[in-house]
Amino acid sequence: MSFLSTSLDRIKPSATIAVTTKAAELRAAGRDVIGLGAGEPDFDTPDHIKDAAVQAIRDGHTKYTAVDGTPACKDAVIEKFQRENGLTFERNQITVNSGGKHTIYNAMMATLNAGDEVIIPAPYWVSYPDIVLLAGGTPVIAPTSIDTGFKLTPEMLEAAITPKTKWFIFNSPSNPSGAAYSENEIRALGDVLLRHPHVHIFADDIYEHITYGDFAFKTMAQVVPDLQPRTLTMNGVAKAYAMTGWRIGYAGGDPALIKAMAKIQSQSTSNPSSISQAATVAALTGPQDFLSERAAVFQDRRDLVVSMLEQADGISCPRPDGAFYVYPSVAGCIGKHTPSGKKLQSDEDFVTYILEDFGVAAVHGAAFGLSPHFRVSYATSTEALTEACRRIQEACSELT
Ligand SMILES: Cc1ncc(COP(=O)(O)O)c(C=O)c1O
Repeated sequence: MSFLSTSLDRIKPSATIAVTTKAAELRAAGRDVIGLGAGEPDFDTPDHIKDAAVQAIRDGHTKYTAVDGTPACKDAVIEKFQRENGLTFERNQITVNSGGKHTIYNAMMATLNAGDEVIIPAPYWVSYPDIVLLAGGTPVIAPTSIDTGFKLTPEMLEAAITPKTKWFIFNSPSNPSGAAYSENEIRALGDVLLRHPHVHIFADDIYEHITYGDFAFKTMAQVVPDLQPRTLTMNGVAKAYAMTGWRIGYAGGDPALIKAMAKIQSQSTSNPSSISQAATVAALTGPQDFLSERAAVFQDRRDLVVSMLEQADGISCPRPDGAFYVYPSVAGCIGKHTPSGKKLQSDEDFVTYILEDFGVAAVHGAAFGLSPHFRVSYATSTEALTEACRRIQEACSELT
């Protein structure tokens, strides 16, 4: 009998972290590898945010804080939700956690019983199904397709709902597809949800500030206010403020749920870092102008990557409205042979081929629940992206 818990058998390690680790190992072994696997901005955390953290240390904010966030941090989150999303919350409706992933974990741990279903549109962020499984729930995967722009239609949502549905996880803009739902598309999904009062909505807005052109970001509780009492609106500083290492996520929702999440947190991690909370106050209440400047840089990179991948034989690459990912189809490469004679049977074979033969690390679509695709994170330099896409073009042209 194993010493380890059987609950580990329900989940797998994060595929995105695995690819990043493998790329780092190959690099350490002297290989020239370009990593397109990591989901973090290559920008640095802005100085005014770092300064606030240094000041917090100097001022002695180095002790335990209230379990689910300092009053100052909760007030900054309240201000953000009001200013950017038109959502009004009190402090007892706000939770601050050690990263957005932790927010999701607390919410699922606090609510799921055996047999409870959680609807997750595919392609999905790799951690959703595993967190649901770890919490003892059942993920119900609702597949979308390249034809719907990787978006869930109201019919698809309706078909996935059962009497056992507890949550609908809604991530826009999406990791891994970049798909971003318009206000009308959100309202159409909201109309379905209004007919099913037992379903709660987990709105993962972490890519809110990374959208392009005239796309206008909206969140579910804002578009359909009648859903606000059963929506947990989640966000974090990682992606917008280039603060992945600071580990702060937060959410606003029903006070009873927020209290239950604090109970879980009080017996696991306790408060998120006091210093990171101080930095978060500076991030959410300080200057915001760099957000659109950085989004413009990401937009140029998106356009570069889409146009170069579209030119690769066998690849088709939609142009999404947000996040820093594209999710090209490799349907035209499957069944072909590599120069060494290996037949590409899956998207996993494809990413193995481009990593081992061309030194480009990306994540296969199966990890995100929708094949045959792969995910490219373009949160890296223009030079690296240009070279990586050139190598992918070469890899595709050598398939027969
Ligand atoms: C869709 C989505 N939600 C949540 C997170 C969690 O972010 P963090 O835990 O770094 O705040 C990520 C990070 O990759 C993500 O892509």
